[in-house]
Amino acid sequence: MCGIFGYVGSKEAPKILIEGLKALEYRGYDSAGIYVPLNNQQQSTQQQNRCIKAVGQVKNLEAKIPADFKGNIGLAHTRWATHGVPSEVNSHPHSDCSGRVWLAHNGIVENYSELKQELIAKGHTFKSATDTEVVAHLIEENLKTIADFSSALKATLNTITGTYGLVIIDANDPTKLYIARKGSPIVLGIGEGENFVASDPSAIVPHTKKVIYLNDGEWAILQAGSYQLFDLAGGELKREPQIIEWSVEETKKGGFDHFMLKEIMEGGKVIKNTLAGRLDENTLSIKLPELLGVEEKLKNIKRIIITSCGTALYAGWVGEYLLEEYAKIPVECEYASEFRYRSPIVEPGTLVMSITQSGETADTLAALREAKRQGAVIVSIVNTVGSTIARESDAVIYNQIGPEIGVASTKAFMSQVALLTAFTVRLAELRGVTTTEADKKVVQEILDLPAKIESILDSREAIKDVATKYAKYNDFLFMGRKYTFPIAFEGALKLKEISYVHAEGYGAGEMKHGPIAMIDENFPTVALCPADSVYEKMISNVQEIKARSGRVLAIATVGDQTVSKMADETIFVPEVMEMLLPIICVVPLQLFAYYIGTGKGYDVDKPRNLAKSVTVE
Ligand code: M6R
Repeated sequence: MCGIFGYVGSKEAPKILIEGLKALEYRGYDSAGIYVPLNNQQQSTQQQNRCIKAVGQVKNLEAKIPADFKGNIGLAHTRWATHGVPSEVNSHPHSDCSGRVWLAHNGIVENYSELKQELIAKGHTFKSATDTEVVAHLIEENLKTIADFSSALKATLNTITGTYGLVIIDANDPTKLYIARKGSPIVLGIGEGENFVASDPSAIVPHTKKVIYLNDGEWAILQAGSYQLFDLAGGELKREPQIIEWSVEETKKGGFDHFMLKEIMEGGKVIKNTLAGRLDENTLSIKLPELLGVEEKLKNIKRIIITSCGTALYAGWVGEYLLEEYAKIPVECEYASEFRYRSPIVEPGTLVMSITQSGETADTLAALREAKRQGAVIVSIVNTVGSTIARESDAVIYNQIGPEIGVASTKAFMSQVALLTAFTVRLAELRGVTTTEADKKVVQEILDLPAKIESILDSREAIKDVATKYAKYNDFLFMGRKYTFPIAFEGALKLKEISYVHAEGYGAGEMKHGPIAMIDENFPTVALCPADSVYEKMISNVQEIKARSGRVLAIATVGDQTVSKMADETIFVPEVMEMLLPIICVVPLQLFAYYIGTGKGYDVDKPRNLAKSVTVE
């Protein structure tokens, strides 16, 4: 949540900062701001002129930057509001009274209210309603008694509570970026004679692939030709940069109108990349070398808890069905946001799995830490290499699919489910509850998936036509059973988050316990009824909807005339074994949501009120 970008070097900072913000805009986009000091010391009045802000997207900020706005160091921010409405005055960067301290912040300063009162009592004047501004004034206050800026910053960091990713410039010495982290992601990009900082590596990749992730409780100083890392006691830390594998192309739209469509269209490739090096085509077996260090523990686990949020949670629900049915182990899948607060009991022999695209989701991280505190083994499925959840897990299975930029998660879901399937087969093998023949059949079907996904993607114009017909409705029900039960929830989530239409996911068997009361000709149902072991039950549930004048859009297996005769519209998907249905069935629902959202003229890559990386609770 919120995107921060900072630059120090010899190039023109404003252009680099704006490009950095554009790459981070999916993290928040209600307002944006930039601060670029001149290279010599300025009076406070001049410093105010070096900060430009705008409400709305980064392009509004870009339009306000004059041609003569130059400098070789700066920081910038794109905001997802927490404290204070989206407005210029509340947007970052924020400064102290004198205009010496300038900073951008991601996170929440929890004790800002009492600190603000104390600082007002000492004569400080606040301009914004944000929690962030208190940090600038606190540094200013500390500078009254501590001459050295680094020490004043350290004292400030030891006073504030909550979470922060901070980038700060001292206008009296505009050669350094001060950076600090607690709870909110921040990554340094190490270049040649220039350095970068961002809340996400995707913004750094166009400049350098050498990155250093800050850990909680660490802070850093970046200068054009050097970097230094410290802990909160002031001790210097030594850490070499790591190389990030993402390419620049992966961070661009590649000819598509939206990242969301590009990422859906990558579906077949996503399955291949996810399983590259993990699936042996000759022996039809699965290898997950990243589990080697925990394999002995995995053989003896008694129970699995999966904790995640949003789309990643629905992937986890699929995992629950897969693992219980195939690997014969008890599994619970829980909202991470509830897990941490409901006094969970994590018994010895429990494996906890965190599933997360960003690797930074605050609730998922907190659930992981609680499970770890109680002694659980943690195996995570993470897309962002080096992210906090990746670093705090005992083993990580990376998605290997490059960055996901669209706020609505699509390709990450497919990859997460593919990895859960691979993990299930491997765990079943480790536990000795499967046969080689059964495993080979699953692997062969996985190998066939990309072509089947492509065939659905090829029919996207037909799905667009269906979406156009359904665009007039304000309420939708999505229903499924067994392996398509989580897909009903995921389909509803996709639709509501990008088209702002009311949509509910439901287990088809639950319809008669309440939701069917809502059904009439204005409340269509998307019914997931592919050929599977609960097909007959689904057919009955579709009949019940039709008997109440409900319109039905069915997702059915190619050639199924029973369903297509009953439903008002049918989107066909290729036949696959039951445990792979989630991967196939989600594709038309992603496209359906995409076309309804874009048909309404919405920016589906940046849905209102949302952010890609949810780093606040
Ligand atoms: O980065 P994560 O996978 O942990 O994110 C979890 C959710 O915030 C995310 O899936 C969210 O629900 C998406 N907007 C769904 O499209």
